[in-house]
Amino acid sequence: MINNKVADRISNIHSDIRGPVFFKALEMEKQGQKVLKLNTGNPAAFGFKMPDSVKNYLIENVDKSLGYCGIRGMMPALEAICEYEKTKGIQNITTDDVFICNGVSEAANMAVTALVNAGEEVLIPSPCYSLWTNSVYQVGGNPVLYVCDEESNWNPDLKDIESKITSKTKAIVIINPNNPTGALYPDEILEGIAKIAREHNLVVFSDEIYDRLVLDNLPHTSFAKIAPDLTVVTFNGLSKSHCLCGFRCGWAVLSGETELRAELRKAFVTLASVRLCSNAAMQLIIPTALKDTEYTKQMISPGGRIYEQRQVVMDAIKDIDGLSCVKTQGAFYCFPKIDTKRYNVTSDKEFAYGLLEAKKILIVAGSGFGWNTNDHFRIVMLPEPEQLKKAMYEMGDYLQTLKK
Ligand SMILES: Cc1ncc(COP(=O)(O)O)c(C=O)c1O
Repeated sequence: MINNKVADRISNIHSDIRGPVFFKALEMEKQGQKVLKLNTGNPAAFGFKMPDSVKNYLIENVDKSLGYCGIRGMMPALEAICEYEKTKGIQNITTDDVFICNGVSEAANMAVTALVNAGEEVLIPSPCYSLWTNSVYQVGGNPVLYVCDEESNWNPDLKDIESKITSKTKAIVIINPNNPTGALYPDEILEGIAKIAREHNLVVFSDEIYDRLVLDNLPHTSFAKIAPDLTVVTFNGLSKSHCLCGFRCGWAVLSGETELRAELRKAFVTLASVRLCSNAAMQLIIPTALKDTEYTKQMISPGGRIYEQRQVVMDAIKDIDGLSCVKTQGAFYCFPKIDTKRYNVTSDKEFAYGLLEAKKILIVAGSGFGWNTNDHFRIVMLPEPEQLKKAMYEMGDYLQTLKK
């Protein structure tokens, strides 16, 4: 008899960013309470406006997007992405290697579906944005977490990566800059990962959605630039750099002088064709957005919101006894640690519930990112500086109630 239940794989799939604490926050809002929701990296929710260049172009040209477009995407958008990724140093790519998707989310699903069989393993950073673990679970694969080391600026621990490789390991995921830690990886680390991937014949999935949101003028290196010999899929999009999360505009670029790249490209064509095409209206604005570098630069420069908001949070954490944090170098997240010798925190989820109930501030517990020491949480540094300052004060105040 047919098993009349949902698929077993569903039980592994979850997102704490929109998990039980989030639903509790929604309930509180229904009851008329005001909650500061620091759970999602969604700039528009905090008053970030779209670039004027993008808005004007879209209004004038939207009629050009009514039909299905090419399965990879619209040619001007594919060309603009190809050009952008070449300026990042990715070699030997053409528009045939670019696949525009409904966000990096869909691109990640597509890449994992194209590569990973049920029972195969993918190395995933811990802590990690849950898209990647979930994408692997969706195809019946096994995510295997490797440690990023807080003591070493949250860089991936190369020895740990190597120790987790088995005969079933197919790929390694890196997120650079990282969500939730805000770490930017130095070239030595990328080269170390490339060496491991080379030795063990692994594909590298490099999620670079925050590459234009690097602070303090630090340089960002695309993984594919330093590993032209390896099969690499580079992911990027406009959700964060242009504050357009709702547009669902992302892409994957395949590189590497390998036979596997050609095979993967064919698999991507198959998967892209069954979903017809990606949202066409949003592809119209890709060339304009990628040309408008000033918009993003302004946000990350002194005086710009992302720069100043990071400053507010970092300063506030220094003033909170028993809270510490590695300084964010890219993206708009940080991942502070609570000193559990000084505070009664035995469950990070309970801490998140408690903060929500006491201060009406929603954060995501570290365990929501596969980090299981029960003493970390993620802050989304997107509210205006004054509101963030107040929220940080309230967090500190709540922590004091847990003092041992
Ligand atoms: C590391 C990372 N990758 C991918 C995504 C999803 O991006 P998109 O909006 O393009 O689907 C996010 C969203 O927060 C993210 O943090």
